[in-house]
Amino acid sequence: MMRPMFSRCAPLRAAIPPVSRSLGVFQSVRQYSITPEAASDSKPQDIDPSKLVVEKTTTPGALKKPEDLIFGRNFTDHMLTIEWNKTSGWLAPHITPYQNLSLDPATCVFHYAFECFEGMKAYKDREGKIRLFRPDKNMERFNKSAARIALPTFAPTALIDLIATFAKLESRFIPEQRGYSLYLRPTMIGTQKTLGVGPPGSALLYVIASPVGPYYPTGFKAVSLEATDYAVRAWPGGVGDKKLGANYAPCIVPQREAMSRGFQQNLWLFGEEEYVTEVGTMNFFVAMRDKETGQKTLVTAPLDGTILEGVTRDSVLSLARERLAPEGWKIEERKYTMKEIDEAANEGRLIEAFGAGTAAIVSPVRSISWRGKLVHCGLQDHEESGEIAAKMKTWMEDRQYGDDEHEWSYVC
Ligand SMILES: Cc1ncc(COP(=O)(O)O)c(C=O)c1O
Repeated sequence: MMRPMFSRCAPLRAAIPPVSRSLGVFQSVRQYSITPEAASDSKPQDIDPSKLVVEKTTTPGALKKPEDLIFGRNFTDHMLTIEWNKTSGWLAPHITPYQNLSLDPATCVFHYAFECFEGMKAYKDREGKIRLFRPDKNMERFNKSAARIALPTFAPTALIDLIATFAKLESRFIPEQRGYSLYLRPTMIGTQKTLGVGPPGSALLYVIASPVGPYYPTGFKAVSLEATDYAVRAWPGGVGDKKLGANYAPCIVPQREAMSRGFQQNLWLFGEEEYVTEVGTMNFFVAMRDKETGQKTLVTAPLDGTILEGVTRDSVLSLARERLAPEGWKIEERKYTMKEIDEAANEGRLIEAFGAGTAAIVSPVRSISWRGKLVHCGLQDHEESGEIAAKMKTWMEDRQYGDDEHEWSYVC
């Protein structure tokens, strides 16, 4: 803030005769550099977990049989809500019975997409304790997403604390078995009633929870992808690296197109080079042998603003550096193209490919349809997963369920 102010003052100072250099002249120049907020004494309140008000439901819902759970269709008894306004900051958090929101039709979220969200899970360990997985990462990303669309930010530890309380309250909804968890959906929306385009003066942060079963109830099922070359998910300088609701709706048509041609998901490419970025709503990993050295290499796209900073991506990279690198693997975050994958497949260097995200952990890929041909990603016909994807799933689950006690696991 200071630098532009001084650079604006300097030429002015030179132009004004010494006699006119009164305090008044300089004050009026300075005034323009002070925003009303900065001048105000009010210190908006951050989220304060000690102010939590809990109102429990009087009509607890029946539990579904674990095997009947469908992702994101069933919700728990309660929700966590925290309102924010520009003058007071974050108000007291509430846990209330799960209920509808009532919003004026002119509320800014409906018109200008002031919405961002997170996706994370709570797991029940062998002793019945509830654990979150790397919640600090989700909070960091949530704050980045919120800040990008002029929604308020918050102290990450305060929200983790509240989410932990909420998850513990809903503990009965989390089945004990491995593979089951409670999907948590922190969401923030702009709630100001206005059609004016501007920063929302009020917002609502809420968290809802949905018990979920294993992504692959009967074991891995490798998917086939269609490389999308006619639409782009994200671009440099855009917001594809933020978890904004507005990023997701435009992805449905290309995904549906892929499905109409018999592929389960689409693979997002970028640019004339056809850089590989993400698969559907997951980050993408390819294991191949280096063209020159033959060294086994695990490659994923770099965080250059065109991919989401997946928590699973980061965890896979970290596990790979910890456990695959000592076995001679090279781990790379770099740009790579569809042509490179095709070449590796043709030369028998492609080992396997998989998507990585919270919902499935890993999703093995059988083939990619690209430029009218099918690129086979290293699996035999009878195989549904490569070795690395299978290992990653086990390693990740060991930490998520607390079998491998690790700092990534946050005991509620
Ligand atoms: C576009 C996109 N990429 C990647 C991911 C994977 O992120 P994470 O591992 O944090 O779930 C998601 C997950 O929701 C996503 O929406």
